[in-house]
Amino acid sequence: MKLSTSYLGLTLKHPVMSSASPLAQNLPGVKRLEDAGASAIVLPSLFEEQIEQEALSLHLAMEQGSESFGEALSYFPEPDRFLVGPDEYLNLVAQCKQSCDVPIIASLNGRAPGSWAHHAKLIEQAGADALELNIYYLATDFTITGADVENNYIEILKAVKSEVKIPVALKLSPYFSAFASMAKRCDEAGADGLVLFNRFYQPDLDIEELEVKPHVELSTSSDIRLPLRWLAILHGNLKCGLAATSGVHTHEDAIKLLMAGADVVMMCSALYQWGIHRLARLVDEIEVWMQDHGYESLEVLRGSMSQRSVADPAAFERANYMKSLQSFRALA
Ligand SMILES: Cc1cc2nc3c(=O)[nH]c(=O)nc-3n(C[C@H](O)[C@H](O)[C@H](O)COP(=O)(O)O)c2cc1C
Repeated sequence: MKLSTSYLGLTLKHPVMSSASPLAQNLPGVKRLEDAGASAIVLPSLFEEQIEQEALSLHLAMEQGSESFGEALSYFPEPDRFLVGPDEYLNLVAQCKQSCDVPIIASLNGRAPGSWAHHAKLIEQAGADALELNIYYLATDFTITGADVENNYIEILKAVKSEVKIPVALKLSPYFSAFASMAKRCDEAGADGLVLFNRFYQPDLDIEELEVKPHVELSTSSDIRLPLRWLAILHGNLKCGLAATSGVHTHEDAIKLLMAGADVVMMCSALYQWGIHRLARLVDEIEVWMQDHGYESLEVLRGSMSQRSVADPAAFERANYMKSLQSFRALA
């Protein structure tokens, strides 16, 4: 059984990776993920704010008095709320490269073009095999249009690409009005891979304390549906690789996403919920399922249910929506 796959030009022994999270925030965590069978590991993100905070601290400490220094820094989150600082992050990349055999993908998380993009070069120099760029941007400014948002993504991507030679994957939000066209623009602007999708964590309200609370919710298998549709539509239409993140808990979830067109699937919530050993079990179960169903390699399986391959391509579009609503029968 040939489970090997290629993603971002890296040859992976199977298609199940771990996605960016604090599970990989230090070397022991990364080693545990490697021992648990991850074919590649994405490190947690280094945030634009962390890089700028460090640069600002240095600048203000040298240029100005301590009063304005303190005030300016209060705009940023407290340093101890970050997992690791920029220098520690580079150390982590270097340590992982020394100690691990699987590819290490670093992650940069930003929202606007800026000097922070230069950090991509430092990450490359530290030895990362590839970089995942997560653009977490909410257009809450009433004057910003959809076109502005798209241009912002492309500008950041180009800035980062201009810094490095290693492959750069872009972790995208699903909230674009014309996602296919946006994916194509990213592909043409040089993205080596698209990671579908970034989950935007929604704030919650505490109605007793009258506070807005950050709220991270783990996914469930039903969360694969959004990437599933878009992988199926994009497969075969772009030069870049495709990764699925969101809702991979079982081998069935992974197989569906691979059939839709993913080169790799990533796990995060399932590892928190069931333990990291879930990953190796999932790989074994994919293999058994493929054997039972007569698939000799991943290549045969991949994209076999993409929009180009299924008998009813309209099922991924509006037709499916009409059919679903009309065929729904209430239980009561
Ligand atoms: C606790 C936690 C921390 C995360 N940290 C990051 C991060 O630093 N950078 C990033 O791009 N995604 C981050 N993610 C998102 C995951 O990498 C993943 O894309 C998302 O959870 C969807 O996959 P899942 O359904 O397997 O959890 C985080 C998710 C969780 C639950």
